[in-house]
Order: sequence, then structure tokens, then C-alpha cells
Amino acid sequence: MNETPTRVYAEIDLDAVRDNVRALRARAPRAALMAVVKADAYGHGAVPCARAALEAGAAWLGTATPQEALALRAAGIDAPLLCWLWTPGGPWREAVEAGIDVSVSGMWALREVQDAARAAGRTARIQLKADTGLGRAGCQPADWAELVGAAAAAEAEGTVRVTGIWSHFACADEPGHPSIPLQLTAFGDMLAYAEKEGLEPEVRHIANSPATLTLPESHYDLVRCGLAVYGVSPAPELGTSAELGLRPAMSLKASVALVKTVPAGQGVSYGHHYTTDAETDLALIPAGYADGVPRHASGRGPVAVGGRIRHVAGRVAMDQFVVDLGRDHGPRRVRPGDEAVLFGSGEHGEPTAEDWAQAADTIAYEIVTRIGARVPRVYRNG
Ligand SMILES: Cc1ncc(COP(=O)(O)O)c(C=O)c1O
Repeated sequence: MNETPTRVYAEIDLDAVRDNVRALRARAPRAALMAVVKADAYGHGAVPCARAALEAGAAWLGTATPQEALALRAAGIDAPLLCWLWTPGGPWREAVEAGIDVSVSGMWALREVQDAARAAGRTARIQLKADTGLGRAGCQPADWAELVGAAAAAEAEGTVRVTGIWSHFACADEPGHPSIPLQLTAFGDMLAYAEKEGLEPEVRHIANSPATLTLPESHYDLVRCGLAVYGVSPAPELGTSAELGLRPAMSLKASVALVKTVPAGQGVSYGHHYTTDAETDLALIPAGYADGVPRHASGRGPVAVGGRIRHVAGRVAMDQFVVDLGRDHGPRRVRPGDEAVLFGSGEHGEPTAEDWAQAADTIAYEIVTRIGARVPRVYRNG
């Protein structure tokens, strides 16, 4: 898109993505880096972010769904790519033919991927996922011997090559959590067993962004970074983006749609959860929960308008919300068309996605990922 849209848009600074990849690689110097670009790169745009991350030295890409992985291949991206969220039916064959590494958590998946490999006449690249304690995807320790044995037999038959053994943390964003050493021990044990049984994975990996930043002993051959690639802190306990040496890539900006004077006692937005206590000026911000602005941040979400931080007055509606400017507007008079910054890097005093997470009582992952399809993405430094 050449022209900046006027209602609301997400500006994505691809140089920030590149800088963050370099910063994360410096934090994990012995490991390669996988840029996790699932969920449209956490709302930032999968293809441009994948390209920027690869330019800055990411060696791998990761997605949840096969459709996300196949879309990267369709865009001409041929980097090593792991896709981990599978359901019966695949599409395994398309993934095998596209040279995508597929995660296998259980026997049913191994059987389906073997069938697809035979049909395609190709060896499938698979990564065995161990459930070391997250209790979500992955193979339980009790079932590991069966899966490893079957994978080794499939390798001997030539239908698969086990390229990776991997796992995922439950609480890496809570430094000192007792599950962390337990998961590391379980991962070491499950890995040792698989290697004893003859598997020789190219990559062994367990670290997500918080583990990359705080747990060098978890780095192994590869760190899988999602949120930190986009410059956002995974948790307030770990520090702000700036403290972590990261730069948020996304800024969510809108144009003020209306400024009007209202009397004291004016109820504002649905439910009248805010009432003006004196004559005042209201500004209408044309972005709402259909755009991904969380309704939970009603009455609290911060916005930079006219050189000052204001807060959502009353409820966030589907397409719009209101801020109270007061009568004097602060540093400068606010007019229709002025820029309102809901969140950005914070470098110019604007709120951050982390501030919105706090206002909406959620995590910053959700704030950036939920920015909706209706919001155009505008890329800088492509
Ligand atoms: C399996 C897996 N690995 C890595 C990541 C990246 O996590 P983060 O965004 O904390 O780096 C995710 C994201 O949730 C994931 O599901």
C-alpha cells in the first residue's frame, strides 16, 4: 500500500524486526534462531516479517498451522520451516512436498505422515515433540519409547528423517518457577533416550522468547523466538522491551475523527460508564474491538493524542471509542485528522502494547496478535 490509510493502521518497522533478531542471536550465540511467524507473525504480517528475520540471520521459521507454513512457501520462502499444529487429515502430503518439517507428537501423526511420504515418493522431515511438562502438545514420557521406536523404524524404511527433537516450556516467563528445571531434566532424559535408540536430530530445541532471554542452559541448537522478534517483552517480570534491548516493531495509529464540546453530565459511549464532570472536549478515535482494541480496556486504555497521554473514556465500542481532552487540550489543540497513537515503541513517550496488556488485564502477546484483518499494515524499511 503506498498511501497511509487515514482511519486506523498498524505501522510495522521491519528494521526493528531485524534489530531484534540480531539482539536475540547475541543473547543465544551458540544456537541458531527460529523466527516464529505463526498467527500472521503475531499480527505483524508473516511474509514481510519472515523475510526481514531471515535477512538478519534467522536460520529457521516456525508456524502453528500447515496453512501458515504453505503460505510462506507459496510466497517463495524456502528457508527451513517447522510447522507444529496438526490434526488428522493433514495436509501432510502438501507439507512433505514443500519440504516443511512437521512436528509429530503421537503415533497417529507418524502413521499419517508416513502414508503421505509414500504417496509423495519423498522422505518426510519430522520433528518429534516431547511433552516435558507443559501438558499440551507433545508425547508423554510414558509413550516416548513407542514413538521413538516407530520413528527409528520409519527412518530405516526411508519414509521419514527425524530432523529434530523438541519441547516447549510452561512457565519460562516466570523466572525461578520450579517447573523450569524439571522440564529441562525431562528434556535431557527424553533426548538421551532418542539418541541412544539411534536418532540423530539436526536440531534439539526447547527455548521460547523468555527462555532465550533468561535461560542460556535451555538454548541447545536452536531458540524459537516469537514475541521478542517483534520487540515486545514476554512478561513484565522480565523487564520492558527497552530493558531487554528490544524495539517494538508495531505502532497502532488512528486519525482523530471528531472533536466536540459537550456539557457537564454528558454520558459517554455505550452504557454511560463515563460521565463528564464539567464542560469538556471529547475526541472520537475511530478504532474499536472489531479492529482488535480490547473492550476489556474500556475506561483504562492509554492513547497519545495532542502531545499527552489520555485514557479511553467509557466503553470501547466495535469501531470507535472516545477520549476526554478537557477544555484546554494540554500542549496543543486537538483537531480532526490529528494522529492518535494507541501504542508504539514507547521511544517518543507513546504507550506500548505492554501498557495495553496491563490496561486490559491480559498479555502483550494478545494485544498485538488480535489487531484485526480490517486494520491495514503499513511497512517501513522494507
Ligand atoms: C511451540 C512454540 N514455540 C515457540 C513459541 C514462541 O513463543 P514466544 O512468542 O514466547 O517466543 C510458541 C508461541 O506460543 C510456541 O507455541
